[in-house]
Order: sequence, then C-alpha cells, then structure tokens
Amino acid sequence: MTNTASPEDFLRAFHAQRPAVTAEAFGGGRAPDGRSSYELLCDRVAGSRRVLDLGCGDGLLLELLARDDGPRLAGVDLSPQSLAAARRRPLPAGTRLVAVRAQELPFADGEFDACVSHLALMLMGEVEQVAAEIARVLVPGGTLACVVGGGPVGGEAFERFGRLLKRAVDEAPASSRIPPLGDRRTRSRAGLEEILRPVGFGPVHWQTVPIDLGGPVARVWDAVSGFYELGPLDTATVARLREDFFADVADLTTPEGTVPCGFTVHLAAARLR
Ligand SMILES: C[S@@+](CC[C@H](N)C(=O)[O-])C[C@H]1O[C@@H](n2cnc3c(N)ncnc32)[C@H](O)[C@@H]1O
Repeated sequence: MTNTASPEDFLRAFHAQRPAVTAEAFGGGRAPDGRSSYELLCDRVAGSRRVLDLGCGDGLLLELLARDDGPRLAGVDLSPQSLAAARRRPLPAGTRLVAVRAQELPFADGEFDACVSHLALMLMGEVEQVAAEIARVLVPGGTLACVVGGGPVGGEAFERFGRLLKRAVDEAPASSRIPPLGDRRTRSRAGLEEILRPVGFGPVHWQTVPIDLGGPVARVWDAVSGFYELGPLDTATVARLREDFFADVADLTTPEGTVPCGFTVHLAAARLR
C-alpha cells in the first residue's frame, strides 16, 4: 500500500487491507489476571445499558460487551471493511454500526450511558471535537472508558521489534512513512484531563497494565507486524524486517520455543458531571 496525505485516508486504506488487524494482534494478549485489554475495558462499563464504541474496528469489544446481559450497542469507525467484519459477529439485534468520523457522531444528545474506545481514541485528530461529541451523546453521569497504548515492558521482543522497525522506517524513503496519527495528549493522564475537563468530565482514573503477547516467535511476529508503520513499507523491506526480527530474538527463545513479548496499555476512565 502507498502512503496517502491525510491521517484518516491512511487509516481507511490500511484497514481496507487489514480490517481485523488490531483484534488479531491484541485480542490474545493477557494482563496479569489472565484477561485481555478488551475484557478489562468491558469491566469499566459493566452494567451500562447503552454503550457506544468509538473506533470499534471489527467489533471484538462489542461482541464482549454483548455478553453483559443485553446492553444496546452501537459502534462507529472510519473503515467500512472493518465494520463489515463487525457485522459478521454475533451482536444483539439492533446494534448500530456506522461508518462515520467520531468527530461527527450521528446520535442524539444523551443517547448513551457509556462510551468505550480500545486503541482508537489515541489515533483521532481534532480530539477536542471528539471529546465534545462524546460529552454530547452521553447522559450526565455517563462514563467514558478507553484503552490507549503505552510502550514496551522492556527487555523483550516488543522492544527489540521497535528498534528494528525504527531503523527500517528511517532507511525507507519519506513516502514510506505514515502520517502523524492522533494527539499525544491522549496517552497521558494529565493530557487526557486537559482534553476532557473543558467538555464537562471529572478527574480521569488512570491505570497502567502490562499485556503479555509472548508465544511462538511466528505468532509474536504476526502481532507486532500489525503496526501501522509497516503498511507503507515495500514487501522486500517487510521481509527483511521479519528476518532480522527472528534473528534478533533468537537468544530470547525459551527451550519451549516461545519468546517473551509485552507492552503496556493505559486504562483511562472519567465520568461526565
Ligand atoms: C487500532 S484500530 C482499533 C480497532 C478496535 N477498537 C480494536 O481495538 O480492535 C483503530 C480504529 O479506529 C478507527 N478510527 C481512527 N480514527 C477514527 C475517527 N476519527 N473516527 C472513527 N474511527 C476512527 C480506525 O478506522 C480503526 O478501525
């Protein structure tokens, strides 16, 4: 795939080719309590009757939310292909899946009790407008809960992959780099509060959780190679990166044939006053 001018066009083009990439990469990740980051996020809105997923992708989070005794669900995403994959999941009748920007939600004021977003809010531009839309569609007292990406746990395959990827991207032509995505403030508690307070949210509750993605090296590669940065790289560069990664993590491989791989996520939640 080639790089395109706007971040949203880039995301649409990337997910047209890989509609379910995030759930495939991170759905199998496990927190210390054995649950995935998707399941941890579900807990934050347990009992909410009407839940909106912002940047729902192929709908894994919606499917997990649906287990919670029949909430009314809706999901929005930029990618029609990801939404098509979400429609193939066993979701409750009446679940609304809409291809729109989170900056322009097609819902009435106060229509939801909770809004969730898994590894998506952090990619959104004009984030003040997204925050205003979330506040508008939530009821007073409603909850926003999201998972945003942290970094490598350290000393394992994810960190090594990051170094190799940076080298590959630095060596690639400028046209093979992704456009800047999202607003960095979403990745810290103080930054997220700066975005949410003006639209009426209270303090942000923030928890950092390590997610274990360790396993056979081929599976770990499948997870890390879902990163957006690989999208515009040519096939030969990706093949070389894969080769370098396998060689680089050889010394980390256990006698059982698995490599440790972990990254942290931040679980953030705030209530609308
Ligand atoms: C990393 S994926 C995460 C997908 C899903 N939440 C998951 O974790 O499996 C980010 C998703 O956010 C969507 N997205 C990014 N910016 C968006 C925006 N402004 N409005 C709606 N969706 C957006 C992308 O299309 C993509 O599907």
